Amino acid sequence: MAQATPVTLSDIASGLDTVGISAGDVVLVHSSLSAFGYVEGGADTVIDALLETVGATGTVVVPTFTWGPFHKAETAVLDLVNTPVKDEVGIIPETFRKRPQARRSVHICHSVAAIGPHTDGVMGEGIRSFGAGSTFHQLYQLDAWCLFLGATFGSCTELHAVEEYMQVPYRFHRDFRGSKVILPDGNEIESQSVEFLRTPGYGNDFVKMRDILAGHGVLNITTVGQAETIAVRIRDIFDISVQYMREDIGFLLDEPSRRKLAESMGQQ
Ligand SMILES: CC(C)(COP(=O)(O)OP(=O)(O)OC[C@H]1O[C@@H](n2cnc3c(N)ncnc32)[C@H](O)[C@@H]1OP(=O)(O)O)[C@@H](O)C(=O)NCCC(=O)NCCS
Repeated sequence: MAQATPVTLSDIASGLDTVGISAGDVVLVHSSLSAFGYVEGGADTVIDALLETVGATGTVVVPTFTWGPFHKAETAVLDLVNTPVKDEVGIIPETFRKRPQARRSVHICHSVAAIGPHTDGVMGEGIRSFGAGSTFHQLYQLDAWCLFLGATFGSCTELHAVEEYMQVPYRFHRDFRGSKVILPDGNEIESQSVEFLRTPGYGNDFVKMRDILAGHGVLNITTVGQAETIAVRIRDIFDISVQYMREDIGFLLDEPSRRKLAESMGQQ
């Protein structure tokens, strides 16, 4: 089988330029390294391309979530330096969070890592996962981009912010009382975090939002290597999705869950 041409830093930078990312921007990145094909230099090359594109005045943010291992636990310990994230959000965030300039936020299951002058402004309070005071709310206020590098809208965390804003009836809040966060200096703090957890038996369908948002003309799309690369303003994701949710509170669910919700609401 013919080997695909390796993807270089300049290919990625050129793709970022095509989708409208430029100096000074704040960018939240959902990524899949393997989706590109072969990237020369691996995750570090993607990170370098992102940081060079936004420059010294821009800020790159990646999810460093630990939802998978933590959400079923009664208590959890998040060690900001040592708790890995590759299995949950990929090698690009795992590599990014270890850069000396990166800072990681203290939300117990929905932390992010950031590099750039808006780092303080996107750390969130460490309380809500997605609602007021959270990173995702701050990204909205900063008019940040959401960038998909080979990842699908299935990974679009901002849609959870829509669910929390709309207080969907198929999620509920749980706290992490008794859980701890170990800071980079070794000190421990009590976690204040709450999570907006999906009721068992319900499933989301976020992937459909790609075509729906494309229909609204708000997606800038190109291909880098083999990776579909999409930039969209977080405000567009949020504001447009809220319109759909006002019509149908189950809009972000998969079809069986949507029917189940409609039936349960009809019975009330
Ligand atoms: C889960 C997810 C990260 C998996 O994507 P992936 O491409 O398989 O995994 P990674 O990004 O970690 O990349 C590692 C893979 O790239 C490949 N790889 C290794 N070196 C590479 C290189 N130089 N160039 C290209 N691919 C390479 C390997 O297949 C490697 O897999 P391995 O570690 O099992 O060997 C992705 O599907 C996804 O969902 N991304 C979005 C995550 C997110 O933001 N979630 C937030 C909401 S939950």
